[in-house]
Parts: sequence; structure tokens; C-alpha cells
Amino acid sequence: MKSLKITSELEVYDSLDELPREVSVLMQKAFDARDNAYAPYSQFNVGAAILLENDEVVTGSNQENASYPSGLCAERTAFFYAGAKYPGVKMKRVAISAKSLKHVVVAPVSPCGSCRQVMAEYEVNQEENIELYFMGETGKVLKAKSVKDLLPLIFDRSIL
Ligand code: THU
Repeated sequence: MKSLKITSELEVYDSLDELPREVSVLMQKAFDARDNAYAPYSQFNVGAAILLENDEVVTGSNQENASYPSGLCAERTAFFYAGAKYPGVKMKRVAISAKSLKHVVVAPVSPCGSCRQVMAEYEVNQEENIELYFMGETGKVLKAKSVKDLLPLIFDRSIL
């Protein structure tokens, strides 16, 4: 038996002010998208803004449903929209932010497992990393250089 060690290294920024300007501009777009969330059940509003290689920015927010599992996270709303509107255009970076109507979210909100899997599909296909920056409403911002850093041992089409 051998052991396999899997490591990821993320960057931690103390606040939005520490981010490069073009990233904080993208995060501001995630804030704006967050305000369009439809989240009457969780009251947890999430926004995602994706910068594409053609310099377009595609945003999304979580869209809930009375039939809970039918709702969709902000990240997948944005990624699917980008894939639908700009097929084949590479995604350079995504900024994600969450705000609760019940308390101040200070911990960085990292994408759920299903969103990681969806983002990984686009990253694998485009053969270029997608940078991820994610935060709560305020406080620290985490940066991952690739979806793979959030989803090791990825399941992708090469296995099929
Ligand atoms: N949510 C997202 O939009 N993105 C995530 O990565 C985690 C969770 C949404 C789903 C649901 O509408 C609400 O946050 C509470 O889980």
C-alpha cells in the first residue's frame, strides 16, 4: 500500500481592498448579481460574475424554487448562461459572493460540490485554468488558481 497526498494552495486576501483592481471590479459585479438572487427560502443570496476571454462578463445568482431541489446555485446559473450565450469562449476568472438576509456572512463562501463539478467541465474543455475568487459579504477573499484546486480527483470525460 502506498499513500497519496493531495494538496491545494489557495491565496488569502484580508479584504476586497487587497485585490487587484480588475478583480475587485469583477467582485463588484458579483455583488450586483447577488442582489438579483431569488432566494425566499434560504434568504442566502449568492452572486457570481465570470470574466470571459472576449472581455464579456456573464453574471448569475441563485434561483430557488418551492420544490427545493429544482433551484440552482449562482455559479451554475452563470456558467450555464455563459456556455449557452458564448459557446466555446474561454472563461478566465469567476468572482463569487454571498450575503444572508439573516446575518453578516464574513466567511468566504466556497462553491458547493455540484458547482465545482460543473465548473470543472468547462475548465477541462477549454484547457486553461479558471481562477476563482470567493468571499462572503465582507471579510477575507480566497483565490484558487484552478477549479482543480477545489476538486481533486476530478471526474471528467477522459474517464468515459
Ligand atoms: N448556493 C449558491 O448559490 N452557491 C453555492 O455555492 C452554495 C449555495 C445557494 C443555493 C441556495 O439557494 C442557497 O445558496 C442556500 O444553500
